[in-house]
Amino acid sequence: MTYHQKKILIIVGTRPNFIKITQFKTQIKKYPHLQLKIAHTGQHYDHQMSTVFFEELGTIPDYFLNIPQVKSDEQIQLMKVEIEQLITEKYQPDLMIVPGDVNSTLAAAEVAVKMNIPLAHIESGLRSFDNDMPEEFNRKITDSLAKYLFVTEESGIKNLANEMNPGNIYHVGNTMIDTIYHFDTKIESSAIKSTYQIADEFAAMTFHRPSNVDQKESLQKIIEIISMMAASIQVVIPLHPRSKKALEKFDLLPSLLAIENIIITDPLGYFDFQYLIKKAKYILTDSGGIQEEATYRGVPCLTIRENTERPATIEIGTNELVPLNFDIIAKHIKDINHGKFKKGEKPYLWDGKATERIVHIIATEILAK
Ligand code: UD1
Ligand code: UDP
Repeated sequence: MTYHQKKILIIVGTRPNFIKITQFKTQIKKYPHLQLKIAHTGQHYDHQMSTVFFEELGTIPDYFLNIPQVKSDEQIQLMKVEIEQLITEKYQPDLMIVPGDVNSTLAAAEVAVKMNIPLAHIESGLRSFDNDMPEEFNRKITDSLAKYLFVTEESGIKNLANEMNPGNIYHVGNTMIDTIYHFDTKIESSAIKSTYQIADEFAAMTFHRPSNVDQKESLQKIIEIISMMAASIQVVIPLHPRSKKALEKFDLLPSLLAIENIIITDPLGYFDFQYLIKKAKYILTDSGGIQEEATYRGVPCLTIRENTERPATIEIGTNELVPLNFDIIAKHIKDINHGKFKKGEKPYLWDGKATERIVHIIATEILAK
């Protein structure tokens, strides 16, 4: 019966992408008239930024495109060539799906439209309204090209309604939360605490946004802030490759490593990192996804950015934006330590069933039998 199957292709390329699609294979199996393949562009390629997630979460891509490491614009061009070739020579989908807002998302979206393949965007409608972020450009273009717009939070619906967008909008919830929900037992049994001898009370920190790490001055401020935090709590910092490269370039790695009471690690696998999020006293980050995961866990999260495309994490959740300012961050940490930080709730439909909803819509409306 396979010749009747309708074909779906998901394109991923970066760490957060892998984490947003873990439940698709299971859900699609419920519908025998659907078939799914996953392609990985190779944008993220280190074991700890890529393979570890397939091993842990069990969603191994069917195709690896392995684009070379070149400048952003050139990389997008090369991805487009490789994706087009995959579709022409190996797998012609009836629907393409892209998650998130990274360069791989944009490249795949452009190929879908060029090849006249209907496109669905997961995590559609998020807007930071900050055009200096490459991700904002990627989101807006992807949404303008997609026919099916799957939205994680209320703001996405409003944003899309204010734009010229021809797509069908579905508020389905957050597939990144599906992954936490599904793997919570494994997260709980992570051995990271003993592996790194992490204290009972600790803070977790990640930073990788170009606005924070690509200039020496901002990196220096980050190091001062880490030093201030470490004076009162152990700080665990899984270092993103972009940040590590920047610290090396500006010769700042020794100053970071010299701080007492911190634990610097390579990027962590999913279960270990989620354990940190769940158990941390607080989180300092500039990540997109971690704002949502902290909200889901109800853990105080300070996000070192001027804006967020995920306002539900602030309005409903436990996230707060902070400038890269020593005194302001110190004040928030004091509030957390004194139990004065706000409490939060889970946004609507962040219940572990977003992928199930998306696949049901695909199976019964978009690619109905
Ligand atoms: C990308 C996304 C960003 C997302 C982040 C998630 C774009 C424009 N940016 O940023 O939105 O928040 O991923 O982590 O798509 N590198 C390695 N090993 C790897 C991956 C990257 O060494 O496995 C190096 C690259 O060679 C490059 C730097 O890190 O020098 C940045 O990688 P890149 O994929 O361009 O952007 P990210 O900063 O990872
Ligand atoms: N993450 C992880 N290991 C780490 C750091 C992050 O598994 O060492 C996970 C994190 O829990 C979230 C995703 O990676 O699910 C977020 O990726 P990142 O912060 O790189 O990207 P962004 O969300 O900012 O695009």
